[in-house]
Amino acid sequence: MIIGKASPDDYQRNEAYEWAQDLYEQGIRNTWFPHEIPLKEDHSDYESLNEEEKHALMMILSFMNPMEFVVNKSICLGIYPYIKSPEAHKYLSRQLFEEANHSETFEYILQSFPIDRDAMYALHPDTASSRAKEEWISHYINRMTDEKLDIETVEGKQELVKNLVATNVVMEGTFFFSNFMVILAFRQRNKMRNFGSLINWVLRDESLHLKFGMQLILTILEENEEIVTDEFAQEIREMVIKGVELEAAFNEDLFPNGVLGMNAAYINQYVQYIADRRLEEMGFEAEYNVENPAKWMATSTDVLELVNFFEQQNTSYEVNANATVEKAG
Ligand SMILES: [Fe+2]
Ligand SMILES: [Fe+2]
Repeated sequence: MIIGKASPDDYQRNEAYEWAQDLYEQGIRNTWFPHEIPLKEDHSDYESLNEEEKHALMMILSFMNPMEFVVNKSICLGIYPYIKSPEAHKYLSRQLFEEANHSETFEYILQSFPIDRDAMYALHPDTASSRAKEEWISHYINRMTDEKLDIETVEGKQELVKNLVATNVVMEGTFFFSNFMVILAFRQRNKMRNFGSLINWVLRDESLHLKFGMQLILTILEENEEIVTDEFAQEIREMVIKGVELEAAFNEDLFPNGVLGMNAAYINQYVQYIADRRLEEMGFEAEYNVENPAKWMATSTDVLELVNFFEQQNTSYEVNANATVEKAG
């Protein structure tokens, strides 16, 4: 059983959930730090962005940075205490670091561009659609910290799964992917390429978080069949659909007029497409049955290409650095 309060005895074994150990090792292999990618070359791109393009980037940063900490809060208060596999605990510890590293990345971006921090951070509480997403997630985390929650009961186990679906499947696996797609669309049009590379690394981490969360949900359901009632299944499905609605409203505010040849409808079709994949991964039928409007996302998230891309970037920085020195000399 993966659910339960861990005792020291539980930590003596370390092989029951091999998938968690594998994901932990994969997470460690993905170690990176934001300063490995210099952002200097993106400065002139940033200057050339129009107000609406800047607004889209600011609104995403404003939502995502605080949410890194909300994910960690969910892990610490709503997941870790109710799981007793040492491998899963190792993975969650690793994920805590990665979320902190993502926040460092956003700080690094904020410091690298002439961004008005206060105005940027004011966007998320001041925009109703952004606040609605945060409030929806917080509701599920708060349920986990309710004193009356007993993880040994059907209701307690169902609350744990709901919190995982809210923070992992909906926030990390849907909201964040929608935001990543917008930022990577800049790179796709040869703008903010290095910013895009950083986001690609964040995305690679988030893909693992999603894999872990999904596997954890499936393991809990498999080991606790009594919690899978029709009503509960319907509730989970509706949570994913609610997530799509919340994100659709957010994207309307992100793009009042459309930027980079994209508009809210385009992004929202992508959101529906990935929500269908999330539903299928949990054993549901798809809801929207739409095509992926952004097939380029598949290539831009390819890890091998990312590594090559970074190596190329490194070389070009060295060349540029020399050129600057020669000129200065
Ligand atoms: Fe993150
Ligand atoms: Fe994450």
